[in-house]
Amino acid sequence: MQRIAVLTSGGDSPGMNAAIRAVVRKAIYHGLEVIGIQRGFSGFIEADMGPLNLSSVADIIHRGGTMLRTARSEEFKSIKGRAKAYANVERFGIQGLVVIGGDGSLKGADIFHREYQLPVIGVPGTIDNDIAGTDFSIGFDTAINTVVEAINKIRDTATSHERTFILEVMGRECGYIALMAGLAGGAESILIPELDFSIDEICEKLYRGYKRGKLHSIIIVAEGAASGLEIGRQIRDRTGLETKVTILGHLQRGGTPTAFDRILASRMGAKAVELLMSGYHKHMVGMVDGRIVAHPLEAAFQEAKPVDLEIYNLAGVLSI
Ligand code: F6P
Repeated sequence: MQRIAVLTSGGDSPGMNAAIRAVVRKAIYHGLEVIGIQRGFSGFIEADMGPLNLSSVADIIHRGGTMLRTARSEEFKSIKGRAKAYANVERFGIQGLVVIGGDGSLKGADIFHREYQLPVIGVPGTIDNDIAGTDFSIGFDTAINTVVEAINKIRDTATSHERTFILEVMGRECGYIALMAGLAGGAESILIPELDFSIDEICEKLYRGYKRGKLHSIIIVAEGAASGLEIGRQIRDRTGLETKVTILGHLQRGGTPTAFDRILASRMGAKAVELLMSGYHKHMVGMVDGRIVAHPLEAAFQEAKPVDLEIYNLAGVLSI
């Protein structure tokens, strides 16, 4: 193998730059050439790509976003779109591809491999941490730290005004961000799409808290579980408590990556190159119990990542 390509696809996540850097530097260390594809699968189709060298990836390890840009490509979902991408594989002499992105992006890589047999390695990069086969995806740690910082700030004003705050966080159909940030932030209730919840129980808990002299309450709602605004309205209607809603939105996707995400991304990016050089051809890298491992690519999306019930129950016990 002489020349590989790398792209980032789907929603960006802090640490993607560190992963690109690791892919490029590890590959060059072993004498390979690297092509950087801009704007994910869109740039793959449109031949928006060029060589990367050691200095192309200098000074990016600490930056959020992705220097390669990203996109959600509709065209790559079609046979025609993928055929255009393959024409560029031949044109640029690409012999292996590293795809850094979420489950949709890894699914796209899987289909492309089945059609054209180009060796592909998936690197899980999404703040949602919804990819099976890995304990963590790149960007999740930074995102939950961002959410916890927001909880801390909201807690200050919530206490001063004796208010109930609803904080809606991202995660698509997955409650990991809500769950982990909720535990770390000491939230009273955490609503996630994987588990049923009852507004009556949430309201009773709020009452119990206020009777005990609690000055404020914070409820975390994962976007896939319910609308924060709607939950706020229901709680206000049932309890009469002053309830405010904050939707954190895309600020959860930005910011300088934490040390954890930089280390994870560096290890995963380097492992992806190792796998390509060792002849793996349709795999993903993951972190399991602290070790960087390889799984068949379909492990990323064949089954949903199970919710961590132990954490969920603990958060409930600690917020009694
Ligand atoms: O997958 C990452 C994510 O931020 C989800 O949490 C969210 O649902 C989605 O992307 C938002 O996507 P977009 O930026 O395309 O609106």
